[in-house]
Amino acid sequence: MDREKITLTGAQETMLATLYARALDSVRPDPVLGDVAAADAVRRIDYDFRKTGIKGTSAVGVALRAKTLDDWTREFLAANPECTVLHLACGLDTRVHRMAPPASVRWIDVDFPEVVELRERLLPTPPGDYTVISSSVTDDAWLEQVPADRPVVAVFEGLSMYLSEEDGTRLVQRITGRFPSGELLFDCYGSMGIKLQKLVPAVRNAGATLDWGIDTPGQIERLHQGLTCVDALRSVDMPGLEKLPLSGRIGMRVIAHIPALRDIGKIMRFRF
Ligand SMILES: C[S@@+](CC[C@H](N)C(=O)[O-])C[C@H]1O[C@@H](n2cnc3c(N)ncnc32)[C@H](O)[C@@H]1O
Repeated sequence: MDREKITLTGAQETMLATLYARALDSVRPDPVLGDVAAADAVRRIDYDFRKTGIKGTSAVGVALRAKTLDDWTREFLAANPECTVLHLACGLDTRVHRMAPPASVRWIDVDFPEVVELRERLLPTPPGDYTVISSSVTDDAWLEQVPADRPVVAVFEGLSMYLSEEDGTRLVQRITGRFPSGELLFDCYGSMGIKLQKLVPAVRNAGATLDWGIDTPGQIERLHQGLTCVDALRSVDMPGLEKLPLSGRIGMRVIAHIPALRDIGKIMRFRF
């Protein structure tokens, strides 16, 4: 089997870390996500995955984050069976396969062209109303192609921290300004997390830079009238942490008790 050579760098390369995390989770005896397609994709990529620094605790942590965002997406689809999903910075994430949305859902994956090319070679095209758009999410044109006729759920995992505050702000305003109603589901780093970014091997080794830190839901709520935070979960309080290896569980409990560190990462859900 010819394996895919990787030439991606920076933020684009970091999607191999989250892919590898889901792959490692899928072969654990009691997986969080059971994303076997991730393990299959990893086998078909020619890359030294040790470079990601992903191991037991970080693998389960990434899978738990993905699971929370999956659960929130599923809730939105159940309440809004005719809706648009904007899955931004999709990387090689199989969220659309895990959700298996009905044909009444318009699903749009977005990432940079080089990432989309790899995605198209490695992952099957899902059935239904599915489109993948090759673009930076910060460009104006891609969103104008998306009909604004339905409620929207924008899911973006591992994206906000790679954007500048200006680009992140504009992205939130463009989505909330375009659709009649919807939700934004995403993870973020707090400003302390941004300061400590060199401690994250996947970021450091890919030569990526984290920029936008979000400390309070109010920073997002004020970007659009009626935008309201309905969940802001600290990473150290995510459901399912009991699945972490013992060392990870202890580490999370310690961090949860240190005020300067416990807000390093969050997962948030906003409604408008
Ligand atoms: C940490 S990875 C996360 C990928 C995927 N969401 C996952 O969880 O596996 C970061 C992703 O953000 C994408 N990304 C970063 N900046 C972007 C931008 N301005 N427009 C589109 N995608 C972007 C990268 O290409 C990469 O796929």
